[in-house]
Amino acid sequence: MPTQVELTVFSPAKINLYLRIVGRRADGYHDLETVMVPLDFGDEIVCQRRRAGLTLECDDPRLPTDESNLALRAALALKERCEVTSGARIVLRKRTPLAAGLGGGSSNAATVLLTLNRLWKLEAPMAVLDEIAAGLGSDVNFFLRGSACLCRGRGEQTEPIAARLPATVLLANPGFEISTKWAYANWAGAAKLTGEPPPVSVVTCALAGGDLRGLAGGLYNSLEAASVTKFPVLQVMKEMMLAHGAVGALMSGSGATVFGLFADAASAGACEPVLRREFGPSTWTQMARMGAGSQS
Ligand code: C5P
Repeated sequence: MPTQVELTVFSPAKINLYLRIVGRRADGYHDLETVMVPLDFGDEIVCQRRRAGLTLECDDPRLPTDESNLALRAALALKERCEVTSGARIVLRKRTPLAAGLGGGSSNAATVLLTLNRLWKLEAPMAVLDEIAAGLGSDVNFFLRGSACLCRGRGEQTEPIAARLPATVLLANPGFEISTKWAYANWAGAAKLTGEPPPVSVVTCALAGGDLRGLAGGLYNSLEAASVTKFPVLQVMKEMMLAHGAVGALMSGSGATVFGLFADAASAGACEPVLRREFGPSTWTQMARMGAGSQS
């Protein structure tokens, strides 16, 4: 049998249906309670086995391809941890907007870990991949799971949850970035205005029961109020989605992407051109479905 020397894999984006900041930690991070779901929209990564060396190429010139890129850092960390002598060429076809609250970089890192583990035939257990992932970023562990999760700690403690809700998601990004550091540094003042968050069980129960209206009632993000105060266009985008068929709408993660949840693709498809017309060509929109992407 020929040895497999190349794998092409999907690297999904995510949305946060719920993100509550529980407290500030001594290490500067924040403890969270967050529900994340992978989307069937994301990037594509090709990994080719090489005799030696690790290289990264990307079709988006804005992304660095040196060790400051999380995908290459993941490959280097795995190579070192598992004492791998082979190398790899990694090619990243970027579709997910950068610094957008959709987990693009974290997803690429997790996908590289899973894929090189197969390509290099390491059979490293999930516990080892989890350890490497936690050192790379707070969302990387979630993307190792490949399914909806309730995450705690700074996000790296993952608990897979049942999600039987194939809702259509409409993503809208206003074309500017919000720094994750800024979002976490400024969340508290504005969040006081939004009142008590609903318990996370509203979201987990609705996901398990396939209840879209129930899910809409539980949507929450501690980081949203500060961003909406600074960038009111985010609120206008949400309201426009709700006025055009969305059952619920929220900012994802640290933004600036907002998403609407729709009962079906037809209603999301009717809303998408409205957003493009109202907010102009700098606005990026994308329809997707909640659920695991293919990891083959
Ligand atoms: O872990 P990650 O690199 O994604 O985090 C980026 C920044 O977001 C951190 O440096 C920190 O300022 C903030 N953060 C936080 N609490 C978290 C996750 C991220 O304060 N749970």
